[in-house]
Amino acid sequence: MQPELISSLAESYAARYTTPEEAVLQRINEETVKNHPQGHMISGHVQGRFLSFISNMIQPKYILEIGTFTGYSALCMAEGIAAGGQLHTIELRQEDADTALKNFNIAQKNNFITLHVGNAKDIIPTLPYQWDLVFIDADKTSYIEYYELVLNKLSEKGLIIADNVLFHGQVLEEPIKGKNALAIQAFNKHVAEDPRVEQVMLTIRDGLLLIKKK
Ligand SMILES: C[S@@+](CC[C@H](N)C(=O)[O-])C[C@H]1O[C@@H](n2cnc3c(N)ncnc32)[C@H](O)[C@@H]1O
Repeated sequence: MQPELISSLAESYAARYTTPEEAVLQRINEETVKNHPQGHMISGHVQGRFLSFISNMIQPKYILEIGTFTGYSALCMAEGIAAGGQLHTIELRQEDADTALKNFNIAQKNNFITLHVGNAKDIIPTLPYQWDLVFIDADKTSYIEYYELVLNKLSEKGLIIADNVLFHGQVLEEPIKGKNALAIQAFNKHVAEDPRVEQVMLTIRDGLLLIKKK
């Protein structure tokens, strides 16, 4: 059995004292959890408010998201985007991309969100922007590759946020088993040993790693 990373009492206390989601996000959250077989992958209320909070502080011009899913986290980050800014989000699966697009339209954010359907490894090199905020939240075995692809295109004050860096507690096990947990462990070590950056790991939900250039 996997350990309970954060006590469910602490999680619900945090949710109670965090600003509520807007109705449109609450609906996407509820529908995703109820109807999607992998509904647990959604960022959810508290992490979503964190992404929105950070985005509002940075006021990014260019945001990149790797792993759109049903569009929830993209809409949270979109809340802080600078006037005239663009958010690019990449999703491999057509069905999830269709749902996300529908959600962007309902939220009336489709005028500055571009959804790319395909493999992020192919799409990232085609996007000619300096990123102010990057959210890495796709296949765990590619995290190091995504990090290396975006670091050179991160603006001077840009921030990378990587999700699931505790990987359901599996990185705490000895020995670490499973390709995803091993990949996340390798990613955390890779960043920790990279002299170009500084980083802080937060134990929000499944773990977030915040990374910026020195
Ligand atoms: C954890 S979910 C993203 C959750 C979303 N960011 C949120 O917080 O609501 C990961 C998503 O990444 C997508 N994905 C996996 N591999 C990918 C790849 N190589 N390129 C683009 N998207 C990928 C999956 O299809 C899935 O929808």
